[in-house]
Amino acid sequence: MNYLHDKFGRPITYLRLAVTDRCNLRCFYCMPAQGIDYVPQRQLLTYEEMLRIVRVLASVGVHKVRITGGEPFLRRDLMEFLRQLVAIDGIESVRITTNGVRTEPFLPELKSLGIKAINLSLDTLDRQRFAQITRRDELPAVLHCLERMLELGFEVKINCVVMAAHNADDLIPLAELTRELPVGVRFIEEMPFNGDGRQTTLEWDYRRILQTLQAHFPTMQKIPDPPHSTSLNYQVPSYKGTVGVIPAYSRTFCGSCNRLRITPLGKLRTCLYDEGIFNLRDVMRAGATDAQLLDTIAEAVSMRAANGFEAERRRSLHSSTESMAKIGG
Ligand code: 5AD
Ligand code: SF4
Repeated sequence: MNYLHDKFGRPITYLRLAVTDRCNLRCFYCMPAQGIDYVPQRQLLTYEEMLRIVRVLASVGVHKVRITGGEPFLRRDLMEFLRQLVAIDGIESVRITTNGVRTEPFLPELKSLGIKAINLSLDTLDRQRFAQITRRDELPAVLHCLERMLELGFEVKINCVVMAAHNADDLIPLAELTRELPVGVRFIEEMPFNGDGRQTTLEWDYRRILQTLQAHFPTMQKIPDPPHSTSLNYQVPSYKGTVGVIPAYSRTFCGSCNRLRITPLGKLRTCLYDEGIFNLRDVMRAGATDAQLLDTIAEAVSMRAANGFEAERRRSLHSSTESMAKIGG
């Protein structure tokens, strides 16, 4: 197989595909209170277009796909799409990131499709703080979903975005979940993709998060990180789960990044921090063949920045007013 590589020798084997920009929460680190201007349905990639992109990517070595959003379960007929996605030759692993608000009814079917791993966005275990952060009072539904996911044997990771003055007090209670539960709790540095141009500080960078965890769990040990992992992982001896930190803003992991992203509108991004130059939806709707589609992807990959700082410098507008729901987490 002719694998896709960038000019720094990084193989591209992982696609993060955002299936919608809509969400039923309004996490303030992702969206303004009124939400974002949702794009009309016809501007979104269709499922057929997504499947076509994945088939083309699978032919050059992409074997892992993560479904993100927005909230993926808000897109109609998602399960039918997933059924076709998991059947694509070469796609070995399909994972999904969800906020867990309306996910529970779909869990048995996800299981039967062979989807083994789910990432759950959960920033606090406190109902009031949850309502402040997400602007919706949905913590009970999310916790219920978490319980069901574990009962059904999913591999579960919890994503917690660490925000100064909001949930720093939640680090320890969330990490404590790993005492009894086989979950990976990962603390993510807040990135400036909140849809209203608010700059973020690195007040809680991954080092400070780690120091806080280490101070509370002095016996916590480093454990091996999976290849291409963005998280640095740890475990408290005898605890069932693991904890991790993701230096999403410090960007220490770019050297081993194997990802491509596709936004709900079909823009291809070779880095979270880049602008995306090619719109694969437009390329396909203009009648491109699969070979031409692949050429476009290969060209974007060949222009890939060395790291997230370079990608950010190259943007025409330096500070981002984008929402994570429009990029795809
Ligand atoms: N900074 C860091 N992580 C973010 N996410 C969404 N917005 C941001 C942000 N501004 C993460 C959430 C969610 C995933 C889809 O993206 O944790 O789990
Ligand atoms: Fe919705 Fe996820 Fe954005 Fe929160 S972070 S508003 S759950 S898309």
